[in-house]
Formats: sequence, C-alpha cells, structure tokens
Amino acid sequence: EKVPLSLKVNGVKQKLSVEPRATLLDLLREQLHLTGTKKGCDYGQCGACTVHVNGQRVNSCLSFAVMHDGQEITTIEGLAKGDDLHPMQEAFVKHDGFQCGYCTPGQIMSAVACVREGHAGSEGEIREYMSGNICRCGAYANIVAAIQDVKQ
Ligand code: FES
Repeated sequence: EKVPLSLKVNGVKQKLSVEPRATLLDLLREQLHLTGTKKGCDYGQCGACTVHVNGQRVNSCLSFAVMHDGQEITTIEGLAKGDDLHPMQEAFVKHDGFQCGYCTPGQIMSAVACVREGHAGSEGEIREYMSGNICRCGAYANIVAAIQDVKQ
C-alpha cells in the first residue's frame, strides 16, 4: 500500500504517493522522471546516484523515499539556473572532467558538497572526499582539477 510523501525537489513542492520500500533514487527517476541521477550499482558502492538532501550529499539508492518527508532534495537538474550552468558544471566542462559521462551527475553533486563543506583544501583531501564516486573511465585527475578550480 502506498503512503503519502511531501518533498521539495529542486525548489518545487511535490505531493506524492509512494511504495514504502521505494528508494529515493527510484522515486526521482521513475515517478518524477528526473533521470539525471544515475543508477550504477544500486547498493551504495559507486556514487552515481548522489543527490543532496537538505544540503547534505546522500547516495539515493540507499535511502527509502519515505524517510525524507518534508525534506529538500536537489538533483543535478536543480544546479543550473536557467541557461547558466553552476560553476562546478562549468569547471567540469572546462577541465574535461568526464569521458562517457555516466558518473558525472553524481561526481558533480559530490564535488559541490566537497567545496561547500570545506573539503577541497588539497588534492589529497579532495580525493578522499570524492572516493565514493567511482569513474570507470578514470577521469579522476580532471575531476580533481575541476574541483580545485571552483574552490579558488
Ligand atoms: Fe547508488 Fe551506486 S547506484 S551508490
């Protein structure tokens, strides 16, 4: 049986009805059609599903949607303001912080949190903070360069 759920997603209030066992990831992708957030492993190992919940980064595949009643969710679709990319998106473009692009939304959501939370002080600190976001193409050096560019 479905349960009611209120969320604010990318600034828009949503009144939803969800399966109790639905993950936040499946809710975003399947009910709200916000498919920028990716499903890689679906068990907390890859970071492709990273979103922000009340400003904190979360692996949305590990979280039941019903746990977030009344909370604010930001996905990759919520970062740009109209035609203006978020500075982190600009930096990923400038530094080629991707190859195939599948992990990129999660990388960028983690990268924004990395800078916001003050973990971008050194390359080592950035790599440590970003270690939960796997990139099979190995674009790590460029991702770190993009984060370092934004932090300045
Ligand atoms: Fe959530 Fe991989 S899909 S961590």
